[in-house]
Amino acid sequence: MSQARSSWNTNLGFLLASIGSAIGLGNIWRFSYMAHEHGGGAFLVPYLAALLVAGIPIMILEYGVGHHQKGSSPLSFVRISRRFEWLGWWMPVVAMFGIMLYYSVIIGWCVNYLIHSFTLAWGPDTQTFFFEDFLQLSDSAATLGGIRLPILFATMLVWLTCWFICFREIHHGIEKASLIFMPVLFLLTIIMVGWTLSLDGAAEAIFGQYLHADWEKINLFAADPEVRAAAGNVWAAAFGQIFFTLSLGFGIMITYASYLPEKTDIAKNAFITCSVNCLYSLIAGFAVFGIVGFMAQSQGVGFEEAIKGGPQLAFVVYPKAISLLPGFNVLFGVIFFTMLVIAGLTSGVSLIEAFTCSLTDKFEWPRRQVATGICLTGFLGSIIFTTRGGLYILDIADHFITNYALVLGGLLECVVIGWILKATVLRNHINRTGIGIHRTWVFFIKYTTPAILLYLLYLSAVGDLTRNYEGYKSSQLLLYGVGWLVLCLAAAFILNAFAWKPEKLKRRHHAGEDDLLV
Ligand code: PHE
Repeated sequence: MSQARSSWNTNLGFLLASIGSAIGLGNIWRFSYMAHEHGGGAFLVPYLAALLVAGIPIMILEYGVGHHQKGSSPLSFVRISRRFEWLGWWMPVVAMFGIMLYYSVIIGWCVNYLIHSFTLAWGPDTQTFFFEDFLQLSDSAATLGGIRLPILFATMLVWLTCWFICFREIHHGIEKASLIFMPVLFLLTIIMVGWTLSLDGAAEAIFGQYLHADWEKINLFAADPEVRAAAGNVWAAAFGQIFFTLSLGFGIMITYASYLPEKTDIAKNAFITCSVNCLYSLIAGFAVFGIVGFMAQSQGVGFEEAIKGGPQLAFVVYPKAISLLPGFNVLFGVIFFTMLVIAGLTSGVSLIEAFTCSLTDKFEWPRRQVATGICLTGFLGSIIFTTRGGLYILDIADHFITNYALVLGGLLECVVIGWILKATVLRNHINRTGIGIHRTWVFFIKYTTPAILLYLLYLSAVGDLTRNYEGYKSSQLLLYGVGWLVLCLAAAFILNAFAWKPEKLKRRHHAGEDDLLV
């Protein structure tokens, strides 16, 4: 008989860990930039719609499955249908080797910038500092150009910290870390937002740009077909963001819920996780828009000129604004980059945990050794992103993973749970305790959500087939984008091929449920 499954000490610990996974680097700058690019306040409409039709239903689904089958994603899926165990592997493999390898390097950049904050080392030209002095970016994805040692060391530190948290049992490691990290993160965020709101130019940017709605950008029924097509992309981006921000489609939430006690309120927990995460994004948006507004005003440039997308927002715009502050610049810098490091770490450990738990479930190897092996391999894999060409590879891998792997994971999950396990069985299970969910959830999981996700995949595919993403060479896109995903799929099938101990495969029955296994 194998050892009893470990569990959370408290529901609060579980919630903070899940919220910690959800709140990450994506909430702080990805959300704000997307809101800006896609119609300001109007973006909130597709964003909230995506939260309602995909975010919350799939969060309930992932929590429900993990709790129902009490297993990591491969164990849960193999118990539902042997034919779909590979899907249960694919999701954590992508989380670990698709996302965590570069996510850890970005946290490493934040660690470097946290140190630079003490001396405001980035100087007046933060753009040149970031690209030329810090990253020393090569001229194309074709040139890797050697490792950047400061980034390598910081990345090593990130993996060490994650290892330190993940090698312990869940309630000693991730739960304790979340109980410390999350309140600190919330406190720092409140300080940061309050501070930003007091700066000149912040209010104008928040009201004039962030909360100002450009309805045309989301109008799917516009007369002009070009406007309609652009609006379609905005809706697609909103769905992609919801998946990324809620950490859905990676098996993380399935794993976390598998450590919950028998009696628990699944629907309420899902609802709280989603709401806190999205509220956090909205509030962080105030800080980001506010700081850009402050910077635009103090430099006498327009808002459009001041704001920048992607990594530049945190590593070019923020440092610039920090240098321009009237006082306490160092403190502001330290708070901001500490926030990013904490937000990143709590998401990072969840990515590692999903894979660690999958391996310990199947092979019954000791957790400590698995976590050590994974963190070591992960660190070695990350090294490619610490090279001078790392940013290009990161950009390509990220594009393919967020637009395809995540959405496909969510789609297949809905199909397997909706049609093979039968969504009603899961709903009955979820409704045994707690606030419960309405019948329409079943309809969403079986029809609405998969249909929308399929449409999203179609939109992304059309976009990628008509033009090369960001003008990269096709060979590079194939190698670092498609190739990466295919490699993850191959790994999933290899892990799938090993045999389970027969007693593990017994489907978990719960009193009063029909067993509709096909
Ligand atoms: N949700 C995290 C964020 O918003 C990122 C993440 C994605 C974490 C997927 C885990 C899994 O940054």
